[in-house]
Amino acid sequence: MKNIVLTGDRPTGNLHIGHYVGSLKNRVKIQNEGQYDDMFIMIADAQALTDNADNPRKIRDNILNVALDYLSVGIDPKKVHIFIQSEVNELTELAFYYQNLVTVSRLQRNPTVKQEIKSRKFKESIPVGFFTYPISQAADITAFKANIIPVGVDQLPMIEQTREIVRSFNHTYKEVLVEPNAILPSNSACLRLPGIDGNAKMSKSLDNCIYLKDDSKEVKKKVFSMYTDPLHINVSDPGHIKDNTVFTYLDAFSTEEDFRLFYPEFKNLDELKKAYQKGGIGDMKIKNFLYQILEKELNPIREKRKYYEQHLDEVYQILKEGSLYAKQKANQTLTMVKQAMQIDYFTNDNLKKEFLNNK
Ligand code: TRP
Repeated sequence: MKNIVLTGDRPTGNLHIGHYVGSLKNRVKIQNEGQYDDMFIMIADAQALTDNADNPRKIRDNILNVALDYLSVGIDPKKVHIFIQSEVNELTELAFYYQNLVTVSRLQRNPTVKQEIKSRKFKESIPVGFFTYPISQAADITAFKANIIPVGVDQLPMIEQTREIVRSFNHTYKEVLVEPNAILPSNSACLRLPGIDGNAKMSKSLDNCIYLKDDSKEVKKKVFSMYTDPLHINVSDPGHIKDNTVFTYLDAFSTEEDFRLFYPEFKNLDELKKAYQKGGIGDMKIKNFLYQILEKELNPIREKRKYYEQHLDEVYQILKEGSLYAKQKANQTLTMVKQAMQIDYFTNDNLKKEFLNNK
C-alpha cells in the first residue's frame, strides 16, 4: 500500500502558534523524513464557506495568507502539493455520493461539530452544508487515498467519520477507498495550546492568539500579558503550575537546549517548575524565557515569509500547479468510485449489452 499524506486548514485567518505545535510542525517533520509516496496540503475554502456563506471576501483574502503561513513554516513546494479545495470539483461529487452512507443522527453525534454549532450560536438555523462538512472532509481525504492525516486533536471525529464512510463504501460497493489514520503530536501540551488569556482555546474571535506572522514587538507584548498564577503576587510566593499558561507553553516549546542558551541556572523544565513552586522565581523571568524561545522558533519563519511575500508570483504558481495535480489524482479516484457504484454508463458498451442480455 502507498503512503499518502493529506491535511488542510480553513482559510478564515492567519495561522497561529497553536496550529504550529498542534499540526504544522508535524507536517514539516513528515515532509522531511520523506517516508511517503505523495503529500498534499489543502486550503479548505469550500469548507470555510459552510459557515461564512455571506462573507466570501474573507475566505478569498485568506487564501494567500494561509499559503504564506505554510511556506514560511517550511512546507517545501517541491515535496508537497498545496492546493485549493474548490479547484478540485471532484471532491464535491464524491461528497454527494457519500451522503447516502451517513445518517442524520450520526452527524448529530459529532462532538467537534456540536461544539462549533454551540460557539457559532446557530441554534435552529444550522446551514445544511455546515452540518454535513464531515462528509465533505471524508471526500477530501479519500479522493487521494490518503492514509496519514497530521491534524490537531479536534479533527479526530472527522477522521473517525471518514473511516466509517470508507468501510461502508467498500462493503456496499467494492474495495476502492482507504481508511485514514490521524497523526497527533506526541507532546500532550501541543494537543491544545490555550490562548494567552488562559482560555482553553486559542481563537481569532477571542483575540488571544500569537500569530506566526506577529513581529517581535507583538510577541513580546503578548507574552508579557499572559495569564499565569493569580496567587503568585510576590516573587517569593510559591507559584502554581497548573493552568499557568506560561508553563503550558513551556511544556509545548522548551527544550534542554533552550535552558542551556537562555536559562542556564536550570537544566530542564522539571527543575524550573520545582523552583517556581517553591517560590522565588518571578513571572517576568519565566515570561522572558518563553519570549526568547518563541523568538528563536519564529525568526526563521519570519525570514521565509519575507522571501515569499516578495515572490507572490511563485506562491500563486505553487497553488495553481498543486491544484491541477490534485484534480488529476481526485479524478482517478472518482472514476473508480463511479465504477464501483455502477454509474459509469459510457466508459464501454456494457450498459447496452446488459440491456440486451436481460431481455
Ligand atoms: N476541518 C479542518 C479545519 O478545521 C480543515 C480540513 C478540511 C481538513 N478537509 C480536511 C483537515 C481534510 C484534514 C483533512 O481546519
